[in-house]
Amino acid sequence: MEAIETKGLRKLYRSTSRRLGKMIVALHDLNLVVEKGHVFGFIGPNGAGKTTAIKILVGLISPTQGEAYVMGHPAGSVESRKNFGYLSEVSLYYNFMTANELLHLYGRLFGMSKADRLKRVPEVLEMVGLSDWGGSRLSEYSKGMQQRFGIAQSLISNPPLLILDEPTSGLDPMGQKEVKDIVVRLRERGYTIFFSSHKLTEVEHICDTIGIINRGEMIRMDTLSKLLASAGGETIVAGVEMPEELANRLTSGGADIIGEGGRIYRVSIPVEKAVTELESIQDAGGKIISMDTRKPDLEEVFVKLIKQHEGGRTNG
Ligand SMILES: Nc1ncnc2c1ncn2[C@@H]1O[C@H](COP(=O)(O)OP(=O)(O)OP(=O)(O)O)[C@@H](O)[C@H]1O
Ligand SMILES: [Mg+2]
Repeated sequence: MEAIETKGLRKLYRSTSRRLGKMIVALHDLNLVVEKGHVFGFIGPNGAGKTTAIKILVGLISPTQGEAYVMGHPAGSVESRKNFGYLSEVSLYYNFMTANELLHLYGRLFGMSKADRLKRVPEVLEMVGLSDWGGSRLSEYSKGMQQRFGIAQSLISNPPLLILDEPTSGLDPMGQKEVKDIVVRLRERGYTIFFSSHKLTEVEHICDTIGIINRGEMIRMDTLSKLLASAGGETIVAGVEMPEELANRLTSGGADIIGEGGRIYRVSIPVEKAVTELESIQDAGGKIISMDTRKPDLEEVFVKLIKQHEGGRTNG
């Protein structure tokens, strides 16, 4: 059994704007699979349909068409609800209450006994690094601490699956790292985590699988290493001083001119061809003045995939 599975999910919203027509297709035939014990990054630009898909999974809205299962149970069913914790995109908490008070309140909503809550509340605070802050009101928390509190809240009933809608959004790099570290620790403890983000680079190191969604469609679902492989391998970028005729001749041999300033050119060469290419450049009178290695950039892959998908849409 998979932790999450959707088949042909479709969601139409009624639009209030006449200019846009009557219906907005928020999800179009969305299929995804999240394996147990995995961290799944659900990545897509603003308006791609991430929150819509998540709301269907947690049972807040129902799909127009298609099926969704959470831990083997139909999304929205009472049985499915016992299996996940959820952090919504916009978390509004009762700021005048302390973290302890709020967590006890959530625990009561899940039907936990007082003894269970007294044990679990400090545990979840510890898991998100807020052990010293249980007695403080949420109004005293920074945005990053509030987000971490949100994760603690989602953990209160100890569900095997966490569904987090943009847990790193609006946080500074330090805050993002803290949230990512929490996700990694939770994965080590055996939790399955499904979370959304609009930036691939923000999440690359913590995901087992990445699903890229654009305009309501899953355009790629793959492991990080396969995504990186499709971006091409490592390259050597050399600064070369050479006459224009030589630069013009170069592009035929596997080297690429990616920038120039006067007689100095920036030349990109795949690692495996670098030695022979650079030798032939020198033999032809070019002077190598700098050298650097460059790894494929995930953000470039992301932008490329989105652009390809957009291109496919307008052409077809
Ligand atoms: N309640 C609604 N009524 C009408 N249209 C909606 C509603 N909610 C979302 N939409 C539309 O559905 C599409 C998908 O929105 P959704 O919020 O799921 O995207 P998202 O990927 O979560 O975006 P973001 O990164 O900005 O949070 C958008 O075009 C949005 O305008
Ligand atoms: Mg959203």
